[in-house]
Amino acid sequence: MAAPSLPLVTCALLLLAVACRAHPYWPLELAYYRDKCPQAEAVVKSVVGQAVHQNPGLGAAVIRMLFHDCFVEGCDASILLDPTPFSPTPEKLSAPNNPSMRGFDLIDAIKSAVEAACPGVVSCADIIAFAARDATYFLSNGKVYFDMPSGRRDGSFSNDSGPINFLPPPTSNLSDLISSFAVKGLSVEDMVVLSGAHTVGRSHCSSFVPDRLNASVFSDIDGGFAWFLKSQCPLDATPGGSNDPTVMQDFVTPNTLDNQYYKNVLAHKVLFTSDAALLTSPETAKMVSDNANIPGWWEDKFKAAMVKMASIQVKTGYQGQIRKNCRAINY
Ligand code: HEM
Ligand SMILES: *[C@@H]1O[C@H](CO)[C@@H](O)[C@H](O)[C@H]1NC(C)=O
Ligand SMILES: *[C@@H]1O[C@H](CO)[C@@H](O)[C@H](O)[C@H]1NC(C)=O
Ligand SMILES: *[C@@H]1O[C@H](CO)[C@@H](O)[C@H](O)[C@H]1NC(C)=O
Repeated sequence: MAAPSLPLVTCALLLLAVACRAHPYWPLELAYYRDKCPQAEAVVKSVVGQAVHQNPGLGAAVIRMLFHDCFVEGCDASILLDPTPFSPTPEKLSAPNNPSMRGFDLIDAIKSAVEAACPGVVSCADIIAFAARDATYFLSNGKVYFDMPSGRRDGSFSNDSGPINFLPPPTSNLSDLISSFAVKGLSVEDMVVLSGAHTVGRSHCSSFVPDRLNASVFSDIDGGFAWFLKSQCPLDATPGGSNDPTVMQDFVTPNTLDNQYYKNVLAHKVLFTSDAALLTSPETAKMVSDNANIPGWWEDKFKAAMVKMASIQVKTGYQGQIRKNCRAINY
């Protein structure tokens, strides 16, 4: 067979380029609900705004929820499914989510408001993505605003092995972090930039006591910060136990989404081994100091990385459904 002619190849590439420019987020798109439910994004934003105003922790919760949803079965709201006799151990009961994940009631409240406006139109997966975007906006006092493509459909499978297999634990070293993000198509820089979400919210003591406040394990944690954490945390804290309090992730600006996290990393005043690990290669350490020191640098990268994370393995068409109730699949 003859090789395709140069004009033909050029033409094909040109068509591809035009298609890519017209649909940069394919299979998602900006303003997917423009005709189907014009109020959708405004309704989500209003409910999230009220909730975050009352409890900033709920904003942190939905930002984390997007991560935990997208890394397991793709961004398909599988994290929201409640146990049933046919699926007794869904993702939400898995150790990375239970009992630390919060915000499920907020998602229910958003879904009711959206259903009241447009029944059966807006997916729970899109609601998580919009809510995380809006929480970013409110927690940054309007500084970190971006468009979130939509058109995701909801999945119908959820099992507790998913979070264990795909969500890196806080004890992770740098190579484990890099590979768990690479598996989901995210780069080293995406990983460093998204870790900056630890500028808001909280952690249970049990997530860092065993490897960070333990005399028999080496840790580079700042001595004064470790002393403070020991004053807050029982050394026998266990997940789900009765004696497992929480501390703020970012003790400087706990409820503001900003680049303070990277300053904390540089000062060795962060909670997790996985946070401290960002300084263990010259490449990632440079990213940390750029994010800490160049005004606006991290914020712009965070917007793009959130959109990228929110597009992992999304379901469209017959691959998914629009759940009526975010906690259960439709029958
Ligand atoms: C890089 C790997 C990551 C690890 C190992 C990790 C680990 C953790 C852990 C252990 C907690 C505390 C859970 C608890 O004990 O209550 C936490 C909280 C949190 N994480 Fe991450 N995380 C990572 C990446 C991310 C990403 C990519 C995001 C979002 C973009 C994120 C957002 C959050 C938020 C906002 C909280 C606070 C949640 C709340 O206050 O309810 N994390 N993370
Ligand atoms: C669900 O997770 C359990 C482990 O928690 C595993 O044994 C089982 O094979 C998983 N089921 C499916 C269908 O993946
Ligand atoms: C990172 O941790 C894993 C275990 O989770 C271990 O197998 C690996 O050797 C560690 N890598 C480095 C560079 O320390
Ligand atoms: C301290 O680390 C050792 C070795 O990893 C571990 O066996 C022990 O349980 C840890 N202690 C606490 C209080 O977490």
